Amino acid sequence: MSTERVATVVGDLIKRINDAIDEHEVTYDEYHAAMNYLIRLGEAGEWPLFLDVFFEHTVERLNQGEGGTIEGPYYVPDAPWLERPYVLPQRDDEKGDVLILSGTVRSTGGRPIPGAVLDMWQADADTYYSNVQEGPPPYNLRGRMTADDNGEFEVRTIVPPSYHLPRGGPMEELLNAAGWHDFRPGHLHFIVSADGYTPLITQLYFEGDRYLDSDVASAVKPELVLSLRKHDSPEEMEERGLKKPFFTTSHEFRLKPQDG
Ligand code: DHB
Ligand code: FE
Repeated sequence: MSTERVATVVGDLIKRINDAIDEHEVTYDEYHAAMNYLIRLGEAGEWPLFLDVFFEHTVERLNQGEGGTIEGPYYVPDAPWLERPYVLPQRDDEKGDVLILSGTVRSTGGRPIPGAVLDMWQADADTYYSNVQEGPPPYNLRGRMTADDNGEFEVRTIVPPSYHLPRGGPMEELLNAAGWHDFRPGHLHFIVSADGYTPLITQLYFEGDRYLDSDVASAVKPELVLSLRKHDSPEEMEERGLKKPFFTTSHEFRLKPQDG
């Protein structure tokens, strides 16, 4: 970054924070509480959580726009490559309703993109991300797969219930202190990529989730909210080799061709 850019953006940030301090007549007690808080936030390793919750959505909107949303703090690279039929790695007794997500990866112009890569991750039904929080085995509910020759894919996973941020650290402390809830609607995360296209970072949400309109991370967009169809007839369950009812939904991911 150029000296000029740093001076412009950081200078404006400093000015705006000073303006807020001024306007709200911040006391020395409050100033020291804030300093102590920010130190503890770092010691707890929660800076990525804090920044992604409060600020990533704006950076995302400026840089991706329609069809995308925030990455959040819990992506890990090198998730296992899955084999067809795709099933996101999970425990034998993984909690949650079965979800079969199908869809197509297309260019913004509408052409299917054969072989596009979907890197997918989600929390388990208890809100824990593998490789981040204690509980799930490594790479649980994380995997990479490719779209077929028609740009189509289908993957089985679990319906993600409403999600809350990790608790017990400075992030929860701040949300409690402000009287704000710590929920996000249940979501599936994706990075969808293909040669010649800008990778799309996004999430999918589900109709009926009570936090769609009050996501603590401000990362819901209408085009990312899917409706679930329930299948509970014995024939449908047998056809899928499943012993319990399942849900289906589908989505089209649209990738922007890279310039040049
Ligand atoms: C954030 C985003 C997520 O998807 C998540 O699971 C947790 C936190 C965030 O914006 O910080
Ligand atoms: Fe998440």
